[in-house]
Amino acid sequence: MYKRSHTCGQLRKTNVGVTINLNGWVNSVRLHGQVVFVDLRDRYGKTQIVFDADSFSGDFEAVKKLSMEDVLSIQGAVRDRSESAVNPNMVTGEIEVAVTDYIMLNEAAPLPFVLSDRDNAEENLRLKYRYLELRMEELQKNILIRHETYQAVRSYLSGLEFVEIETPVLMKSTPEGARDYLVPSRIHQGKFYALPQSPQIYKQILMIANYDRYFQIVKCFRDEDLRADRQPEFTQIDIEMSFIDEEDIFVHMEGLTRHVFKSIRGIDLPDPFPRLTYADAMETYGSDKPDLRYGMQLQDVKDFTDASDFNVFKSAEKVKGIIIKGGAKYSRKNIDELTDFVKKYKAKGLAWMKWEKGTFIGGISKFFSENLQKAMFEKLSGNDGDILFMIGDDSSIVLNALGHLRVEIAKREALTNKDDFKPVWVTEFPMFEYDKEADRFIAMHHPFTAPRESDIEMLDSDPSNTLSRGYDLTLNGYEIAGGSIRIHSPKVQEKVFSLLGLSREEAVEKFGFLVEALTYGAPPHGGIAFGFDRLVMLLAGTENIRDVIAFPKTTSATSLMDESPNNVSANQLDELGIQIKKSKK
Ligand code: AMO
Repeated sequence: MYKRSHTCGQLRKTNVGVTINLNGWVNSVRLHGQVVFVDLRDRYGKTQIVFDADSFSGDFEAVKKLSMEDVLSIQGAVRDRSESAVNPNMVTGEIEVAVTDYIMLNEAAPLPFVLSDRDNAEENLRLKYRYLELRMEELQKNILIRHETYQAVRSYLSGLEFVEIETPVLMKSTPEGARDYLVPSRIHQGKFYALPQSPQIYKQILMIANYDRYFQIVKCFRDEDLRADRQPEFTQIDIEMSFIDEEDIFVHMEGLTRHVFKSIRGIDLPDPFPRLTYADAMETYGSDKPDLRYGMQLQDVKDFTDASDFNVFKSAEKVKGIIIKGGAKYSRKNIDELTDFVKKYKAKGLAWMKWEKGTFIGGISKFFSENLQKAMFEKLSGNDGDILFMIGDDSSIVLNALGHLRVEIAKREALTNKDDFKPVWVTEFPMFEYDKEADRFIAMHHPFTAPRESDIEMLDSDPSNTLSRGYDLTLNGYEIAGGSIRIHSPKVQEKVFSLLGLSREEAVEKFGFLVEALTYGAPPHGGIAFGFDRLVMLLAGTENIRDVIAFPKTTSATSLMDESPNNVSANQLDELGIQIKKSKK
């Protein structure tokens, strides 16, 4: 091998005349009679190298057979390209290398898909041959953004006295919401470790252990339904602070987010970030992670529908609508599609009216008197050419269905720009959600989240309306971070456990060590965790979390490259004292 003197992204006009060595992969081959042009690629870029039958002393027939992804080591002289051959889209586009000799370091077998055409290769095939996909420019760019994000986060937090501390990966199963991934113990047969859903308990214990400011870029594991922005193992920037309140968290986390966006993308995020209460976010956007890049706010129309002759909504708890600018263009077919869409979210239907010349037409407009229409035209912020969609039902169905409709329409109308970033804090979440099936409360964030000071007494009198000191940071419709001020009083902690249906014994069995630790001088503390992959996903401008993880899993939690999960030998099972009851396959 010729030891490389330069990378494939390095040579410029100033190198003309110099003899150099390059190592890399064949990115493309073009045969022009007695001249063969090859783009040689490495992590740093591409350089055009030229084999000219007249001047090349080696085996020219072999050169003609070079194929994609062969690994070459070449020696040659840098020369100017002819003016017509200059490629302004390549940083090395003004020069080329006339090859004098080359060594084939490794031939590549025919490829399972074309590396320059990611969109046309089926994702499962790309995941099976992930090492090939990772060679593609788009993924390399993402992986490098991810690398830069690690560095930016570490230097920012370290500069603010946050200490990076690793916490165990093998821990006790302490349910936090999702199912745990379990690891059987060989030494203690019949017992299991759990992989952390997050280092929540450890970081609280680190505050009790007086570390004051902690962070960790850490893998978390959750056995839950997967989506485009969810992986079974994902990474958090996990953070905890002592002697603080919400304002300290907001200031520092906004600082961190601004620093990351500025250093990675050169983008200035607002200072401060806007805030919305959970209740306002739900009423205005039908979502606790509202995308603020577009309007289409939910508007209350119950007074109008009640005053109309349209009786279907009269008994509905809530009637809300959204106005789509220019939506009068929607055909019957479009409206039927959107009606089917909202039905997925339990809405019974989608009422509509179009605005034309100051009045409503179509849909349910005939049920609205001229005066009522006039009043609506004045009150609602619509215009001629718009459409008003309405849903009436139980409050949660109305908000959820319209919230999803809002996002769907923004997608259809291409209202979002992926280079526009609109962060917003969502605060004052309810402490609990009521799980009808299980007939009990579940924690909206997690069981260690503190209630608002003013609501502590409501834990006894009106738990379902108790608000918490939890907060989420959302960006462009994604929840990128979530956290809370914690309970530091053992008494309140026990009360919350009991509301969550955990008996004293169960609470002690599951979280006893934390409850005990709280009795030995716990400082007031709180924290947050960023979904690192989601953050990188937004920075990289993709909507698929798999695009920013080197070796991701499919939505059915498998790794197609190494074929995990997989069987283990009878011997391994035996050592663990495990017998498989029945295999699903
Ligand atoms: P939470 O469960 O809200 O909080 O998680 C924090 C952030 O992690 C990201 N996230 C995920 N990313 C990818 N795949 C997943 N399956 C996934 N699940 C969550 C989200 C989310 O905002 N211990 C608490 C934090 C705290 O209270 O300090 C916790 O884990 O971006």
